[in-house]
Amino acid sequence: MMLLPLKQILFALLGGFSLILLVHAQDDQSGFISIDCGRTQNSSYTEKTTGINYISDTGFIDTGESKLVLRDVKYNYQQPYWGVRSFPEGIRNCYKINVTSGDRYLIRASFVYGNYDGKDELPTFLLHLGTNLWDSVKVENVSHSIHKELIHDPLRNYIHVCLVNNGSGVPFISTIELRPLPNSTYQTQTGSLALYRRLDTGQIAPNLTAYRYPFDMHDRFWYSHSREDWTQLSTASTIDLNQNDFYQPASDVMRTAATPKLATDDLSFFWLPADENAEYYVYMHFAEIEELSANQSRQLEITMNGELFYGPFAPGYLETFTVWSTQAMSGGQYNFSVIKGAGNSDLQPILNAIEIYTVKEFSEQETNQDDVNAITNIKVAYKIEKNWQGDPCFPKNYSWEGLNCSNSPNDSPRIIYLDLSSSGLTGEIDASVRNLEMIQTLDLSNNNLTGPIPDFLSQMSNLNVLNLENNKLTGSVPNELNERAKNGLLSLSGSVELGPTRRQFTYSEILKITNNRQRILGKGGFGTVYHGYIDDNTQVAIKLLSSSSSRGLEQFHAEASLSR
Ligand SMILES: *[C@@H]1O[C@H](CO)[C@@H](O)[C@H](O)[C@H]1NC(C)=O
Ligand SMILES: *[C@@H]1O[C@H](CO)[C@@H](O)[C@H](O)[C@H]1NC(C)=O
Ligand SMILES: *[C@@H]1O[C@H](CO)[C@@H](O)[C@H](O)[C@H]1NC(C)=O
Ligand SMILES: *[C@@H]1O[C@H](CO)[C@@H](O)[C@H](O)[C@H]1NC(C)=O
Ligand SMILES: *[C@@H]1O[C@H](CO)[C@@H](O)[C@H](O)[C@H]1NC(C)=O
Ligand SMILES: *[C@@H]1O[C@H](CO)[C@@H](O)[C@H](O)[C@H]1NC(C)=O
Ligand SMILES: *[C@@H]1O[C@H](CO)[C@@H](O)[C@H](O)[C@H]1NC(C)=O
Ligand SMILES: *[C@@H]1O[C@H](CO)[C@@H](O)[C@H](O)[C@H]1NC(C)=O
Ligand SMILES: *[C@@H]1O[C@H](CO)[C@@H](O)[C@H](O)[C@H]1NC(C)=O
Ligand SMILES: *[C@@H]1O[C@H](CO)[C@@H](O)[C@H](O)[C@H]1NC(C)=O
Ligand SMILES: *[C@@H]1O[C@H](CO)[C@@H](O)[C@H](O)[C@H]1NC(C)=O
Repeated sequence: MMLLPLKQILFALLGGFSLILLVHAQDDQSGFISIDCGRTQNSSYTEKTTGINYISDTGFIDTGESKLVLRDVKYNYQQPYWGVRSFPEGIRNCYKINVTSGDRYLIRASFVYGNYDGKDELPTFLLHLGTNLWDSVKVENVSHSIHKELIHDPLRNYIHVCLVNNGSGVPFISTIELRPLPNSTYQTQTGSLALYRRLDTGQIAPNLTAYRYPFDMHDRFWYSHSREDWTQLSTASTIDLNQNDFYQPASDVMRTAATPKLATDDLSFFWLPADENAEYYVYMHFAEIEELSANQSRQLEITMNGELFYGPFAPGYLETFTVWSTQAMSGGQYNFSVIKGAGNSDLQPILNAIEIYTVKEFSEQETNQDDVNAITNIKVAYKIEKNWQGDPCFPKNYSWEGLNCSNSPNDSPRIIYLDLSSSGLTGEIDASVRNLEMIQTLDLSNNNLTGPIPDFLSQMSNLNVLNLENNKLTGSVPNELNERAKNGLLSLSGSVELGPTRRQFTYSEILKITNNRQRILGKGGFGTVYHGYIDDNTQVAIKLLSSSSSRGLEQFHAEASLSR
C-alpha cells in the first residue's frame, strides 16, 4: 500500500482552462453571478471557451483601481483573469453582492497577480466573507492562479466579499463567481465548507488542467489528478445524471476512474491537516464505467483509518453514486482506502472523483439589519466618501469610521454613535436617520445642511446628544426637542443657543404662510402683524413693512437681522 499526501502531489493549477473546448453547450447559467473584477468597460461579455457571461464589477464596489496583468501571463488565462481590481487605499475593501438569502451558493474568488503593478512583489492578504475570515491569499509567483471556494448559505439577501490588507502587500482580486447549488447537497451539521481539494482522479489527458462549466453544470473546477501507482479506466459513454444523486459531477469527470496498477493493491489516499483541529467533509464520486459480464462484480467498501466508512456497494453502470461524510471528521490523519468488498468482488476498486472540504464556522455577528439599511441609505443620500464598506460594526477593528456600536454578546450590534461632522454634507437632514433607533449621539456639525430641523429627531428616544452646530439649517427647533433639552434628556448644540435661525421667504410664500393675510395679530411701528404657520405646525408672527410706515426700510432691515 502506498500513501501519498494529496498536498505533496503536483497538479497543475494553472492556465489550461483555455484548452477545454466548448463541445456541448448546456446554456443554463440561471442564477450564475460572474464578476470580472477591474474590468473598465461597463459592458458584459461572453467568455469564449466556457460561454459564461461576465459582467464588470463597477456596480458592486466603489473603491480600488483597475489594472491589467502582464501580457505573458494574460495569454495563459481566460479573459476574466486579464485584469484585476487592486486596493492600495484602505485596510478593508468590500464587494456587496445581492443573493437570495437561505439558498446554497458556491462562492469562488480568484486571484492572478500577473505583476499588474510592475513591482514584482508577491503580496499576501486576507479574504473575508462578511465579518469573518475566509482564508488568506498568498501569491507564490507572478503567473500563479489562486481559487478560493466556499459553499455557503447566506443569511441575508447580500454578501460582502472583503479584501483585507494586514501589512503584507496590496490586496487585489481577479474574479468573483457565485453558483447556486441544490440545498440537498453538501450538507453540514454546522458551518460552511471551504474547498480543500477537488480532484478528477484517473484523468490523464496531458493537456487538461480542469473541467468546469459547461462540462460541470455547477461550474466546479475538477483538477486532473493521476498517480504513479494508479492507472486509468475510461469509457466513451456519457455518465447520465442520476436523479437520486444531486451532486451531478460532470460526465467528463466521471467517465474516467483511477484504479490501482497492482491487482493486489487497494486504492488508498490520505491527507494530513496542517491544523489538527480542522474539521473535514469528504465526497467520493463513483460510477461503473466497464460493462460487466454476468459473472463479474465490483463490490466496494471504503475504510477510514482501518474502520469501515461505507459499504459494501456496487456502483451502477454509467451512473454517479456519491458517498459522503454525514458528520464532520476531525482529529489528525485521514487514511482512506477503497477496497474490494468482502467475498465476491473480482474487479479492482475504482474512484472517479473526490472532493474534500474544511468546515468554516462563521460565528461572528453582523450589525442589526435595520441599522445596516439606515446607515446605507445615509451613505447613499449624502454620497459619503469615507471607506464605508462591509459590515458597519464588525469586526470591531474594521468598523466604519465615525460610528460606534453597542456590544452585547447575544444580540446583533446596534449603531449607537454617529459622527458625521465636517463631512461635507449638503441637503436636508435625511429621513433615514430616524431609522437608527438605538442612536445615542448624533453629530452633524460643520456641514452645509439646509432645510428645517425635522420633528422626527424628538421621537428618537435614545438620542441624548445632538450636535447641529455650524450648518445652514432654517426654521425653529421643534418644541419637543427643546423640551427634552430643557428636561436634561438631551444635550443639544448648535441651534439651541442660536434659537430659530434666519430664513428668507418670497412674497407668495408669505401669502401662503398667512393664508392670504387672514388673521391679524396687531399693528406695530412698521405696519400690520399677521398670524401664520410654517413647516406645517409652527406658529409664527409675520411683520409686514407698510409703505406708510413711520419707520423706514433701513430700520426694518436692522431689526430683521437682529431678530432670530
Ligand atoms: C453599467 O451598466 C449598467 C447596466 O447597463 C447600468 O445600470 C449602470 O449604471 C452602469 N454603470 C456605470 C458605472 O456606468
Ligand atoms: C441589491 O438589492 C438592493 C435592495 O434590494 C437594491 O437596492 C440594489 O439596487 C441591488 N443592487 C444590485 C447591484 O442589483
Ligand atoms: C507558480 O506557483 C505554482 C504554485 O506554487 C506552481 O505550481 C507553479 O509551477 C509556479 N510557476 C512558476 C512559473 O514558477
Ligand atoms: C498577514 O496574514 C498572513 C496570513 O495569515 C501572514 O502570513 C502574514 O504574516 C500577515 N502579515 C502581517 C504583517 O502580520
Ligand atoms: C431546499 O430548497 C427547496 C426549494 O428551493 C425548499 O423548498 C426547501 O425548503 C429547501 N430545504 C432546506 C432544508 O433548506
Ligand atoms: C488532449 O489530449 C488528448 C490525448 O492526448 C487528445 O486526444 C485531445 O484531442 C487533446 N485535446 C485538446 C483539446 O487538445
Ligand atoms: C465469465 O464468463 C465468461 C463468459 O461469459 C467466461 O468467458 C469467463 O471465463 C468467465 N470468467 C470467470 C472468472 O468465471
Ligand atoms: C495512516 O497511515 C500511516 C501510514 O501507513 C500510518 O503510519 C498511520 O498510523 C495511519 N493513521 C491512522 C490513524 O490509522
Ligand atoms: C483586527 O483584529 C484581529 C483579531 O483581533 C487581528 O488579528 C487583526 O490583526 C486586527 N487588524 C487590525 C488592522 O488591527
Ligand atoms: C468608540 O469606540 C472606540 C473603540 O471601542 C472607543 O475608544 C471610543 O471611545 C468610542 N467613542 C465613543 C464616542 O463612544
Ligand atoms: C459649505 O459650502 C461652501 C460652498 O460650497 C464651502 O465653501 C464651505 O466650506 C462649506 N462648509 C462646510 C462646513 O462644509
